[in-house]
Amino acid sequence: MTATAAGEPLLEVEDLRVRLRTPRGPASVVNGLSYSVRRGETVAVVGESGSGKSVSVLALLGLLPARVATVTGAARLDGEDLLGMSPERLRQVRGPGVGMVFQDPMTSLNPVLTIGRQLVEGIRAHGEVSKAEARERAAGLLTEVGLPDPERALDRYPHELSGGMRQRVVIAIALSNSPSLLIADEATTALDVTVQAQILDLVEKLRTDHGTGVIWITHDLGVVAGIADRVLVMYGGRCVEDGTVDDVLERPAHPYTRGLLGALPDLATADEGELATIPGTPPAPTDLPTGCVFWPRCPVRGDARCETEQPPLQVVGAGVTKGLPHRAATWCGEGGAR
Ligand SMILES: Nc1ncnc2c1ncn2[C@@H]1O[C@H](COP(=O)(O)OP(=O)(O)OP(=O)(O)O)[C@@H](O)[C@H]1O
Ligand SMILES: [Mg+2]
Repeated sequence: MTATAAGEPLLEVEDLRVRLRTPRGPASVVNGLSYSVRRGETVAVVGESGSGKSVSVLALLGLLPARVATVTGAARLDGEDLLGMSPERLRQVRGPGVGMVFQDPMTSLNPVLTIGRQLVEGIRAHGEVSKAEARERAAGLLTEVGLPDPERALDRYPHELSGGMRQRVVIAIALSNSPSLLIADEATTALDVTVQAQILDLVEKLRTDHGTGVIWITHDLGVVAGIADRVLVMYGGRCVEDGTVDDVLERPAHPYTRGLLGALPDLATADEGELATIPGTPPAPTDLPTGCVFWPRCPVRGDARCETEQPPLQVVGAGVTKGLPHRAATWCGEGGAR
């Protein structure tokens, strides 16, 4: 538990930029991302493949190798500078501070250690608990994430488990220290709906009991509508729209967001709604368009301004719902070109 009061900013990200060295030249993968997550709040991050969702969170935790990535901007967790943190301090912060579920569960499990050892070590690294207590807690966590026969699973190695089981182990590890911030990157995508629902309930409990702030990266609009307070829509490494779930899903202001929601028949009943496919392809981060990042694919693009001038993220629509602004970076709509 941290000293941050409920509703106060837990994570503050300002003008985050990530540039990667690639064989095709420098790639601007995250381009001036600013947002915050408050204590007890769930922020869903959506956007097509390649929009920079994973890279933006990996950058926050110092998980991009310095030889390929240049990260600039600012990020504070509970007021503490994240981007300038020493590797040692970052290791301390992960666990009790930040729990993370990566898109590929194999990368976060150690192949030569049993599941039990990895869970127990995580639990003991951040608290005064005996081995036996930690093992008991580990088995309890595996039960909570829906793993059958948790006692047996504790003695197995990652390769002995199915992909879905490994994913649940990673989730159990991320939740094991009741982190103040949980970052989940497509955490439940590979799981069947019953297990997914069980895990979403667990996260909800963590949020209510511990005031955990959550960043939930997903392609699943049903999950967004079900668990998020706010939505952040990424495209071309930028936030093109953010606001409350109702504002963004029901009154999307950016043509890109409207495109993503396009195939959705009726949000109220779209329990399993996936993001729609938009004609064309996202921009290459080695060759981003000038102006609005979406203009080459935009069905409603207007005059030359869309192609030449980058629209700032500004308040749109009714503006602010329950103290939370609805913002979009577009020249379309109110105050824009059309
Ligand atoms: N290690 C890397 N080397 C070079 N380019 C990379 C690397 N990792 C990511 N990228 C590029 O960075 C961009 C953003 O990737 P990222 O993985 O953040 O996308 P994403 O929004 O998480 O997509 P998805 O929904 O598929 O997970 C992509 O263009 C990707 O090709
Ligand atoms: Mg990703």
